[in-house]
Amino acid sequence: MSETYHNFIDGKWVPARSGKTFENRNPANQEDLVGLFPDSDESDVNAAVAAARRAYESWRLVPAPRRAEIVRRAATLLEERKEDLARLMTREMGKVLAETRGDVQEAIDCGYFASGEGRRLYGDTAPSEMPNKVAYSVRMPVGVCAMITPWNFPMAIPSWKIFPALVCGNAVVFKPATDTPASAAKFVDVLAEAGIPDGVVNFLTGGGKSVGGPLAAHPDVRVVSFTGSSEVGRVLARECGTRLKRLSLELGGKNAQIVMEDANLDLALEGVLWGAFGTTGQRCTATSRLILHRPIAGVFLERLIEAARALKVGDGLNPSTQVGPLVNEGQRETTAAYVEIGKKEGAELVSGGEPVTGRGFDQGFFYRPTVFAKVRPNMRLAREEIFGPVLSVLTVDSFEEAIHVQNDTPYGLSSSIYTQDVNRAMRAIRDIEAGITYVNGPTIGAEVHMPFGGVKDTGNGHREASHTVLDVFTEWKTVYIDYSGKLQRAQIDNH
Ligand code: UN1
Repeated sequence: MSETYHNFIDGKWVPARSGKTFENRNPANQEDLVGLFPDSDESDVNAAVAAARRAYESWRLVPAPRRAEIVRRAATLLEERKEDLARLMTREMGKVLAETRGDVQEAIDCGYFASGEGRRLYGDTAPSEMPNKVAYSVRMPVGVCAMITPWNFPMAIPSWKIFPALVCGNAVVFKPATDTPASAAKFVDVLAEAGIPDGVVNFLTGGGKSVGGPLAAHPDVRVVSFTGSSEVGRVLARECGTRLKRLSLELGGKNAQIVMEDANLDLALEGVLWGAFGTTGQRCTATSRLILHRPIAGVFLERLIEAARALKVGDGLNPSTQVGPLVNEGQRETTAAYVEIGKKEGAELVSGGEPVTGRGFDQGFFYRPTVFAKVRPNMRLAREEIFGPVLSVLTVDSFEEAIHVQNDTPYGLSSSIYTQDVNRAMRAIRDIEAGITYVNGPTIGAEVHMPFGGVKDTGNGHREASHTVLDVFTEWKTVYIDYSGKLQRAQIDNH
């Protein structure tokens, strides 16, 4: 059963002005049409930004605890609808039902966390240099924020941007990935039902060039928050740089799990299977490299190969499936292309390396969990983000070499070390160049109340989720009030 979806502009569900639509189909079964969606263009962007600009003027004056109540209500509605939303999400982008439930749960958690911020939004008070004068700072909303989000976490990622932005008093224009417009529309639906005033949240579906580009370039958009590829991130950085807009980027990763000789190997094996093949390897935080300490490398690799081969690939709605399809044919082609690159570079393919075909698989984008051994740090396989179920195994002779190899990539999002030696763990925490380090846990599994983001080519210094997201969606205002009744020059002008 397919549905026709609409944009949400100024509190109304409307088609694209051109009347054009695009299709979205189930990646596990291309015969299943999920829905038709507006193929929007710049004229829709202009209408959405104008509505947001107008609505912002009154929304910014609503007290933050009241704004937060709407966000809390939205989180409650998500909680009530969790199962239906998760099923639609699996149908739309393929990951297994247990994980789409987790995605909706992350949005619920973000909603409750952000709504609590409505009663904090703390600033500073400080003594003034002068008598009869006070000094303090408050967080101000910024204005219209553009949220451009990926398909791998269709609700969680929009939620950790949109909920806090609203609590801070901003208006939003939201453009989701073209692979997951249905989940995004349901998310907006929930905000509308929760009572968000007309124009405060606007929603547009369509391509990056026709919607994302004009949205980021629009002079009335003051903040752009983007999660996606480094390639698009660079384009946005140029655009926002020349226009002096605030831009929050969360981009690629090439995350590694280190396993030292003293590690609990059962735990490390479970961790790498989940980190590398959960969400079919399509997380920014996915484990893409496994760095094995030589004394345990042989035995660990054997166990890994056996376990990877045993993973059950299939439709994510089937409860026994462990690994769903890739989101679209393009992602499967990229995965296949990297497998060819790996073979040519001389890495050893030890598991997978081919699509899953045959009955029940022909209409979907399935690919076998793939492991390459004998990968060297200078190979493309070890350096470039693949965003598919491909794990590269590297072997090292020492802890120092493990850290060096771990850091030898342009990216720095997530990282992990399995060791029972507290000294090694502490040194790894200090020396790994990444936004997140896990000790005795896989590279995936970030919690919403902790800062999320990365270093080097993974981003541009911002951290969303946590209270640190407030720095993305607010401006500081510093206030001085002089009640002395006379001109008091500041200390620098008095000496
Ligand atoms: C992402 O892949 O962009 O840590 C987000 C995790 C999730 C979020 C991933 N909580 O795996």
